[in-house]
Amino acid sequence: MAQITPNHTLAVYGWAALDSSGKIVPYTFKRRENGVKDVTIKILYCGICHTDLHFARNDWGNTTYPVVPGHEITGVVTKVGSDVKGFKEGDRVGVGYLAASCLHCEYCKTDQENYCEKLQSTSNGVFWDGSITYGGYSKLLVADYRYVVHIPENLPMDAAAPLLCAGITVFNPLKDHGLVTSPGKKIGVVGLGGLGHVAVKFAKAFGHHVTVISTSPSKEAEAKQRLGAHDFILSSNVNQMQAAVRSLDFILDTVSGEHALLPILELLKVKGTLFIVGAPDKPFELPAFPLIFGKRSVKGGIIGGIKETQEMLDYCGKHNITCDIELITPDRVNEAMERLDKNDVRYRFVIDIASNSNNHPFI
Ligand SMILES: NC(=O)c1ccc[n+]([C@@H]2O[C@H](COP(=O)([O-])OP(=O)(O)OC[C@H]3O[C@@H](n4cnc5c(N)ncnc54)[C@H](OP(=O)(O)O)[C@@H]3O)[C@@H](O)[C@H]2O)c1
Ligand SMILES: [Zn+2]
Ligand SMILES: [Zn+2]
Repeated sequence: MAQITPNHTLAVYGWAALDSSGKIVPYTFKRRENGVKDVTIKILYCGICHTDLHFARNDWGNTTYPVVPGHEITGVVTKVGSDVKGFKEGDRVGVGYLAASCLHCEYCKTDQENYCEKLQSTSNGVFWDGSITYGGYSKLLVADYRYVVHIPENLPMDAAAPLLCAGITVFNPLKDHGLVTSPGKKIGVVGLGGLGHVAVKFAKAFGHHVTVISTSPSKEAEAKQRLGAHDFILSSNVNQMQAAVRSLDFILDTVSGEHALLPILELLKVKGTLFIVGAPDKPFELPAFPLIFGKRSVKGGIIGGIKETQEMLDYCGKHNITCDIELITPDRVNEAMERLDKNDVRYRFVIDIASNSNNHPFI
């Protein structure tokens, strides 16, 4: 696979993992020149999604090294191609997981390009020109404008960055199941991490009763007081799990690691839905009994389309929804990845890409 093409002439400073140790080191690489449908973006902030960690360590066996992670990107447009519509220099913009799709299939034509068979990601993907995509742990991005969104003026660029992946990934299933406009349902969120904490905020904002199902006792007070969850279940506590059997209409599973589905399925009412967005590297065991005795469904989904990403951001602008972040300088990315691995983040690390770090040779 070609890493670059002759059109890749822009030298960019960034940070990459070179092998499956996942260690992130400074890395200079080339991006394509701004094409007629491209915008060039000076990156300001980039969230650290758990997917970055999966990619950096080759958890899913599909990483092409060097990998420049990052797909929760906010920044400012510095250049606009002649065929670009809707963007101008100086615009505050965001780029998420989507870098390219075929533009012609039934999914691309119906604003579901996230389900295009030719979907390519912003990091560790292969762009139309055959080059490997390098993500947002870098100073500059060149993106096709059809995969770029506007960040509402009132949202801070750092706390908005994780909305580009974590936000849309949990907004989409809630919207798909009619939960944006029909309040009063009982919603469960499994795993209170980057995705999970935004899911709690959305489910609350949409007027639902929200239960967090977590492995971390230390998150109970925060879940309730800071994020506004109504209930908290410690998944290792059999009594608490038992008391909640058949109580929830819809559960969003955001867990990154191996875990059992059986006890989670039992929390669903009859005809309830378990929607999986977390992506553990090992297959789940799917027990038949909680499905057949409860007519329950198990589904999954990946992010959301671009149009809906804009809709989600506009909703966040209107209702002042942002992420709870820990802002770090680029020289602390490895420390942040270690902490993310140990489930020690409240609730998303965001890299201040444009910051000056004394320890960093490139800045
Ligand atoms: N489908 C998509 O489009 C999409 C988009 C983005 C990310 N993802 C995937 O979604 C997953 C979550 O991403 P994230 O950035 O939110 O990660 P994260 O911040 O690390 O949060 C994951 C949470 O899951 C819980 N958890 C972790 N390991 C667990 C285990 N073995 N058993 C039970 N609970 C566990 C923890 O919450 P508690 O402490 O509360 O238990 C943790 O905070 C990752 O696999 C990521 O690749 C998918
Ligand atoms: Zn992500
Ligand atoms: Zn397509």
